[in-house]
Amino acid sequence: MRQPLIAGNWKMNLGLKEAVSLISELKKVKPNKAEMLICPPFVDLPAASEMVQGTHIQLGAQNMYPEEKGAFTGEISPAMLKELHCRYVICGHSERRHIMGESDEFIHRKVVSALVHGLTPILCTGETAEQRNEGRTEEIIREELETALFNLPSEQAETIVIAYEPIWAIGTGAAATAVDAQAVAHFIRGELTRLYGETTAEKIRILYGGSVKAANIEDFMAQKDIDGGLIGGASLKAAEFKEIYEKV
Ligand code: PGA
Repeated sequence: MRQPLIAGNWKMNLGLKEAVSLISELKKVKPNKAEMLICPPFVDLPAASEMVQGTHIQLGAQNMYPEEKGAFTGEISPAMLKELHCRYVICGHSERRHIMGESDEFIHRKVVSALVHGLTPILCTGETAEQRNEGRTEEIIREELETALFNLPSEQAETIVIAYEPIWAIGTGAAATAVDAQAVAHFIRGELTRLYGETTAEKIRILYGGSVKAANIEDFMAQKDIDGGLIGGASLKAAEFKEIYEKV
């Protein structure tokens, strides 16, 4: 059985004070079978780390640089994230791919480096509206998966999390339909089966992301291949995120 994962990607929102206040609210939420994860901005991580110790809330980072240390001005290493008790790191979010120009190869390095340092990568995949209209969704996702997971042994692959986030659904309020999201999640599971065999593929959690909110989370969770959500806007409000978590 795959444990459901409800992950909040705060993006470049919530400074320290706001972060502390949101986490205080989330600590009051009663734990259930699902895993609750927050991915705050780097500067909030030390305080967040202290606050979530011994609670049901897991901590993750939104990004990292795939080297141990050194002359990489402005970057944060996986070892630094581990020291703050981060368990997860988002790799290859579409905003990093499209705004910061990150390539599939660079994302592959992050996935490998995260695993080497004991962090669980949440590998993001997803097509643009144009690619979808051209019927290229599966081709794009296959390429993103194959490159990011290149040469990864199944013992490592089975621990990672894949997020399917159609870019046209992110921050737009226009989520994919649950049926469309399931079709792609099913395709992803099929690709994982091709790469690693069924036993491993069945262990990998697949999240849907893109305008998830309390009003639609149940539709996504009812799908066979969707194991949780990667949630942006709706993770910034305690009441909404709590409701999403409780509905899972
Ligand atoms: P959204 O963002 O929930 O605000 O659409 C999701 C994401 O980018 O991970």
